[in-house]
Amino acid sequence: MSALIDLWRSTVGTKALVAVSGLLLSVWVVLHVAGNLTMFSGPAVADGYAAALRRTPATLWAARVGLAAAAVVHVAGIASLARASRRARPRHDMAASHRASALAARSMRIGGVLLLAFVVYHLLHLTLGVAHPHFLPGRVYDNVVVGLRPTSVAAVYLIATALLGLHLFHGLWAAARSLGVRPDTAACRRRPAVAILCVAVALGFASVPVAVLTGWLR
Ligand code: HEM
Repeated sequence: MSALIDLWRSTVGTKALVAVSGLLLSVWVVLHVAGNLTMFSGPAVADGYAAALRRTPATLWAARVGLAAAAVVHVAGIASLARASRRARPRHDMAASHRASALAARSMRIGGVLLLAFVVYHLLHLTLGVAHPHFLPGRVYDNVVVGLRPTSVAAVYLIATALLGLHLFHGLWAAARSLGVRPDTAACRRRPAVAILCVAVALGFASVPVAVLTGWLR
């Protein structure tokens, strides 16, 4: 624990913690999109998959606590790095390259805040059901189809999906740099593969609201 606190106190350590927590969240996002695709196999499979996850509450809660901890470390780390960078670099004497990277960092932060707001809405909508007018506990398929039918709600999900794809792409590169991958190495030549992964994740998430809007899922 004290090693973690020491790590947190240095900028390099905070960047590493933000990178590792971001990577954990990315793994979970890939698992979530795979789970969502069970919707295309019908209500029995989608509801059965959700029920199977709940059959071992200890594992489910361990994953939820791990996910929440990773999200807290990620957000707190970014807030702390943003404060440190504001203190270290007065706006007026920034070089052009620094201004560009500050802009990229700022758009990542704005996208991140919007994603966080989406996750809160999403939990109230499809997990707790309090923001869903016809929520039925355990009926995941119906909750998704009925919940995403209003165009405005589907639009919120589609915007979140696009933001997630961009955040994932920029975040994975930022994480690689924080963990010591240099720009001229072989890992960086895998950029197209990472872009394909991020587009696949975004399309995977988008497929459900699009299928509901077009009447494929009903
Ligand atoms: C766009 C299409 C999406 C659909 C159709 C969808 C669907 C769902 C459903 C049905 C649940 C509840 C599962 C259950 O009760 O068993 C859920 C939970 C959740 N979703 Fe999504 N989701 C989508 C996108 C996202 C995105 C983009 C994120 C995050 C960036 C996200 C984060 C979460 C979280 C954190 C939970 C709670 C997991 C838990 O219960 O432990 N979802 N999602």
